[in-house]
Amino acid sequence: MFSHGILERNSLLLLVGILVVVAIGGLVEIAPLFYIESTIEKVHGMRPYSPLELEGRKIYIREGCYLCHSQMIRPLRDEVERYGHYSLAAESMYDHPFQWGSKRTGPDLARIGGKYSDEWQRDHLADPRSVVPESVMPPYAFLTNTPLDYRDIADQLKANRTVGVPYTDEDIANAAKDLEAQVNPDSDGAADVTKRYPKAQVRDFDGNPAMISEADALIAYLQMLGTLVDFSTYQADAPENKR
Ligand code: HEC
Repeated sequence: MFSHGILERNSLLLLVGILVVVAIGGLVEIAPLFYIESTIEKVHGMRPYSPLELEGRKIYIREGCYLCHSQMIRPLRDEVERYGHYSLAAESMYDHPFQWGSKRTGPDLARIGGKYSDEWQRDHLADPRSVVPESVMPPYAFLTNTPLDYRDIADQLKANRTVGVPYTDEDIANAAKDLEAQVNPDSDGAADVTKRYPKAQVRDFDGNPAMISEADALIAYLQMLGTLVDFSTYQADAPENKR
């Protein structure tokens, strides 16, 4: 007690004491981060976006879809019952920037992939009220008429690699070819797309095979969201989910 009195009567000493104690807490939390490779638990099935999906994601961000939609299912009963399994950290590990949030003017889109047909998505984007009469979502009809500008797709993959997405040199060299092949199931490169990007969906997404439109990319992106991890077999602690 006596020695504590010294601290309490000397503000400078007390300040140094506080700093030492707080630093211990800080070190305990921060030091391990330098020794572990990743704080995100790896989950089987996750892979980087295919070039077409990456372009779709870019349009999603450009058009501000995130201002009304989140991609983060919280582990709360009503959310899990409505949207499916809660989101895992690994599911957004290749997102730069991530699309988490709580702003839900529209429904969460983390598992929208496969919920509707491509035609539904195309009609809904062109005129939401044609399929959901009470919708307040704005129309994005121009996407189907706008050719996708993907001249910089290889550079986009490279930029993602700089921030840690594991694209290989081969992925980057074939980026434009893979993008074109993903909307053309009959092309020679179609098999390469699914080899490089397992579970990638290869088809014409907007119903117009004559042109690769922005809608092709956006629908390809929407249709893969939440489809990579197989939740029928997923168990949080099972080693077979990890690799
Ligand atoms: C002003 C807010 C707003 C913006 C911006 C917006 N949405 Fe929506 N969205 C909604 C609302 C509200 C709904 C629910 C009604 C409906 O289905 O249209 C919805 C529904 C959806 C659905 C169907 C979800 C489901 O589970 O039924 C998809 C897919 C979707 N939006 C995609 C998009 C995309 C892609 C963009 C950007 C191009 C976008 N939205 C921009 C408000 C918005």
